[in-house]
Amino acid sequence: MQGCAYIDDRYVAPEDAKISIFDWGFLHGDATYDVAHVWQGRFFRLDDHLDRFFASLARLHLDPGRTRAQVRAVMHECVRRSGLRDAYVEVLCTRGRPAPGSRDPRTCTNRFMAFAIPFIWIADPAKQARGVDLVVSDVQRIPSASVDPRTKNYHWLDFVMGLFQAYERGAETAVLVDAAGNVTEGPGFNVFALVDGVLATPAAGVLEGISRRTVIELAQAQGLPLRIGPLAAAELRRADEVFLSSTGGGVIPIARVDGVPVGGRAAGDFGPVTRRLQQDYWGLHEDPRFVETVAPA
Ligand SMILES: Cc1ncc(COP(=O)(O)O)c(C=O)c1O
Repeated sequence: MQGCAYIDDRYVAPEDAKISIFDWGFLHGDATYDVAHVWQGRFFRLDDHLDRFFASLARLHLDPGRTRAQVRAVMHECVRRSGLRDAYVEVLCTRGRPAPGSRDPRTCTNRFMAFAIPFIWIADPAKQARGVDLVVSDVQRIPSASVDPRTKNYHWLDFVMGLFQAYERGAETAVLVDAAGNVTEGPGFNVFALVDGVLATPAAGVLEGISRRTVIELAQAQGLPLRIGPLAAAELRRADEVFLSSTGGGVIPIARVDGVPVGGRAAGDFGPVTRRLQQDYWGLHEDPRFVETVAPA
């Protein structure tokens, strides 16, 4: 695989980045991470990703042993060494291994790692052009009271079960619900729906996606009516337009929800709101306020 990883203070090929099976990041999913992307040689909203990563670390009592400036420098260096122009750049910190015989997380030596690999799409441009088939899964997202979804985490068993439900129903991905049956988020994305002329996205029980924030800011700038609050599954099913937001592909149009064409539209027609937000999202990748060029050697 093309790319570059950083582990144990060294830059290595992605295949050589390995951790112990005794690391609690593996054994317990005890870790946090963040994913930024580089598009045409520039990071997008890197400061926002760093803010979120350090907030996640603090909530989980994890110490990457590096300052924010050092983490940023590692991200730049991974991309620079990879030679990639479009990259998926992940930073992560695992709990590490405890003192021999101990079950006390405070005795663990936390571990910081990073990698840059070719851009990963939740839905690639060809799939985005025809739209993604989404189901509303009856699997519930882990409640916020148990695992705070604002902390980016690897507790993905609920998402994986949702994906299997989607495949069984001939769809491509799934959004999970909360205990009240409201829509939350899916594997790697937030969800938006245009309902009665109002762009709605869930307020709670979700990761505060950087792409979600970008869409919210764009919608505000366009003067679009916005509702950040509970989104009922029934509203998603009758919405005029539905799209996902993710670092892995930006604004991703949904063609069908539970097998029914969104807004009764013909294939490939996603409606004007989605289309404009999609264009504006990529347009911001040219805006100096949001991008930073990968540092040369
Ligand atoms: C569970 C979950 N929700 C939402 C998102 C979207 O967040 P962002 O826009 O920062 O990529 C992700 C991204 O990986 C995610 O894992």
